[in-house]
Amino acid sequence: MRTRFIVGNWKMNKTATEAVAFVHRLQQELSDIEGIQVGITPPFTALQATRGALVSGPAFLLGAQNLHWEDKGAFTGEVSGPMLKDLGCEFVLVGHSERRQYFGDQDTWTNRKVLAALRHGLKPILCVGETLQERDTGHTGPVIERQLRAGLAGVDGPGLAAVTIAYEPVWAIGTGRAATPQQTVPVHREIRRIIGELGGPATAQGLRILYGGSVTPQNIADFLSFEEIDGALVGGACLDPLSFATLAKVAIGSKPTTTS
Ligand code: 13P
Repeated sequence: MRTRFIVGNWKMNKTATEAVAFVHRLQQELSDIEGIQVGITPPFTALQATRGALVSGPAFLLGAQNLHWEDKGAFTGEVSGPMLKDLGCEFVLVGHSERRQYFGDQDTWTNRKVLAALRHGLKPILCVGETLQERDTGHTGPVIERQLRAGLAGVDGPGLAAVTIAYEPVWAIGTGRAATPQQTVPVHREIRRIIGELGGPATAQGLRILYGGSVTPQNIADFLSFEEIDGALVGGACLDPLSFATLAKVAIGSKPTTTS
């Protein structure tokens, strides 16, 4: 049985001061997260303050939105795995489509970042997803397969067991046009099949696959009613503590009902 994972991707939002206020409000709204995991990913500049605010209250997991693959050196503006680990991060997003689209993160970089995260005990959430054009031209499967195989190249069995995959169709991100579970479930199954080829059936069975793209408190129950969907990577709807708390409460309270 996989533990559900609800992750807020804050993107480039919230100062350190705002982050602390958010955490305090979230703790009031969500005092009990038994049975699921809840993660937040403040910007680098707010990690330290957020960590301080998380000391009391439920065990929200602290994560980062990106990392560099080298441990240190002449890489102006970058942040490394050891730096994130030192700030109490437990996981890190890798290969988000905004990184791929705006900052040139290709599959090879994504792979180096996954390996660097694992090297430093940070659990990577590897993001994959097709553009609208790729979906419309029937390329969703090959694109996902390429991103997965390239992103996970050289990751061994224990490494794979520490990975979470987030399926985020690019066309569903920030558009208010969420994919339907009917569109996502086949992709989740395909991802699990490929993980099975890479790491064997037990690893595939244990690995969590999240959905991301215009997830809201209103539609999350639909996604979580499918056993293939182990949680959500949430952008816009995670920035308000009430909305994010509601998302987590739905994840706590609902059970998968659909296996088709
Ligand atoms: P939205 O929830 O705003 O569509 O963003 C999704 C996302 O990119 C999460 O990583």
